Amino acid sequence: MAGYEEIFRSSVEDRERFWLRAAEALDWHVAPATALDDSNPPFYRWFPDGELNVAHNALDRHVDAGNGDRTALVYDSPVTGSRRTYTYAQLRDEVATFAGVLRGLGVDRGDRVVIYMPMVPEAAIAMLACARLGAVHSVVFGGFAAKELAVRIDDAGPKVVVSASCGIEGKRVIEYKPLLDKAIELSDRKPEATVILQREQATAQLGPIDVDWAEATAKARADGRAADPVPVRSTDPLYVLYTSGTTGKPKGVVRDSGGYATALAWSMPNIYDVDAGETIFTASDVGWVVGHSYIVYGPLLAGATTVLYEGKPVGTPDAGQFWRVVAENRVKSLFTAPTAFRAIKKEDPDGAFLAEHDVSSLRYLFLAGERLDPETYRWASNLLGIPVIDHWWQTETGWPIAANPAGIELLDIKPGSPTRPMPGWDVQVLDETGRPVEPGVDGAIVAKLPLPPGAFPTLWNDDDRYVNSYMKAFEGYYLTGDGGHLDADGYVFVMGRTDDVINVAGHRLSTGGMEEVLASHADVAECAVIGVADTMKGQIPRGFVVLKSGVDAEAEGYEERLRAELVQLVRDQIGAVASLKDVAIVPALPKTRSGKILRKTMRGIADGTDEPVPSTIDDASVLDTIRPILRRE
Ligand code: COA
Ligand code: AMP
Repeated sequence: MAGYEEIFRSSVEDRERFWLRAAEALDWHVAPATALDDSNPPFYRWFPDGELNVAHNALDRHVDAGNGDRTALVYDSPVTGSRRTYTYAQLRDEVATFAGVLRGLGVDRGDRVVIYMPMVPEAAIAMLACARLGAVHSVVFGGFAAKELAVRIDDAGPKVVVSASCGIEGKRVIEYKPLLDKAIELSDRKPEATVILQREQATAQLGPIDVDWAEATAKARADGRAADPVPVRSTDPLYVLYTSGTTGKPKGVVRDSGGYATALAWSMPNIYDVDAGETIFTASDVGWVVGHSYIVYGPLLAGATTVLYEGKPVGTPDAGQFWRVVAENRVKSLFTAPTAFRAIKKEDPDGAFLAEHDVSSLRYLFLAGERLDPETYRWASNLLGIPVIDHWWQTETGWPIAANPAGIELLDIKPGSPTRPMPGWDVQVLDETGRPVEPGVDGAIVAKLPLPPGAFPTLWNDDDRYVNSYMKAFEGYYLTGDGGHLDADGYVFVMGRTDDVINVAGHRLSTGGMEEVLASHADVAECAVIGVADTMKGQIPRGFVVLKSGVDAEAEGYEERLRAELVQLVRDQIGAVASLKDVAIVPALPKTRSGKILRKTMRGIADGTDEPVPSTIDDASVLDTIRPILRRE
């Protein structure tokens, strides 16, 4: 069998053949004859003449092959004390029925459906039902507040929104319906209907446009209104997933159908070493790209079993839940964010909970979403005694840019590196002038165009932003927004974002978005939000505000009150997930002579690194004044 080097080389040197062959893993309504349409760079299209249905490939294909009795999905919910399993045949039927419900509400090929749901199987069913109809889903993470949901509704223009009465956050029940109602009230493009899954922890009051999930599916079933898969073009969008950019306006990352399905189908056996009949447990959320690719689509395309877990790594109720799930389901690959392991390490440093479970089925731990710090790497490796695989990817890319291809061969692991580029990812590091740097030297990490299948073909309704944000900095390259280096062996080292995006507990957030919220407070003249290092969450945001003249900051209790108001404002406007808890009042912000706030310098001082002060600084004394505040001295 070919090794990594050979496979990688063939993916770059003989791209057409490599990906056409990978595409053979799927059922095509019209098999593609051409791999890539490169007639209009940087807008590349994969398998332009192919037609397929992704839900058919994820479900019906396996049932038709006689594997309908295999377990497709296990729902494990320690927060509600429930567990449910679906075979491929059962999941196919649920999806077909719900697709019938959506069709009954007017959803057709190309229409958008926003899904705002907690980690329940119905979230995956709704996604797959959209895919079955050729409709485009846009899942919004349940931790986002009404305003963020409204922004996404306005951009996507959904015909229907699918939601639930509540989610369960640790021990708290979070009612979703009031958030959804508020979001619809705030949005300019109202959906025609909503479908609400009622959960017993909190029942929602239904209004004129609200449809009850259980009633609607029961009726569709009784009426025999299950929907068959609708073949779509490979290049048609499967979903839009909004992610944080440098401003408050999220980017609608578009995912195509055939390219994405091909990339995921390739990645399951070759990266995650998970084949049909084996089990992968991805402890993330369907609201993130990791959830789309490796809770829902990837495992099902592979005919594997996926675990959908509603709970936290710790506190629901303890730090042993991942091990319990692994043991009960004979999980082969576990995938989560490093922050989850830091949380487990804090609660259970000696692995006492691990000892209570038989985790002998577990072959690999995959970690992504943020940099895997070498200390967490070592702790997890020693604890589990299996390969701990850091891999690097982004919402934009849909699947890993760099990883250790466990299913092909396990390459030597270098702590701090997500290993080597995956097929089709021609990763390079450039300096500011666009010249490649020497191995070991940090620069902007880019990927030479065209990007492989699975990566985003554009941003929703915004080709210009696609070009300007990603394709303009270096002609012919995709700007990842991450900085780092390649070493002499071709290993990738990702050191952090070069823009105003931060990663808090594996959640991607925009400091620019938080700044917009702080700036909206009546007392705030200007502000800056920076991401600083945090031992648990990787990074956390810190806010700095300058008050408008005339505001009496000396008034009794003023500072406390303002801080609380600002923290609450961010929770209300963005969501608790923003985790902004620390806001300081400062007399001024350090700026360049052209007025740009020196966020990078501020971050360096806050993190205690020796960040050089740029020569373009306007007034160096401002930095001296706020240095103790940044350092919390
Ligand atoms: N709905 C509503 N609120 C949510 C939410 C959701 N789906 N997800 C998170 N929140 C809230 C939390 O309750 C918390 O609220 P609080 O400030 O009132 O306590 C806040 O948002 C911050 O959440 P989080 O950053 O997740 O911190 P935490 O202390 O609750 O949990 C971890 C910490 C490490 C256990 C948790 O972040 C985790 O499991 N991370 C794994 C990350 C992950 O899966 N990333 C996806 C990419 S792989
Ligand atoms: P998201 O789009 O939410 O998946 O976040 C993508 C960003 O997370 C990347 O641009 C990186 O900054 C960061 N990231 C993800 N995985 C890794 C990793 N393995 N190592 C370092 N950073 C990572």
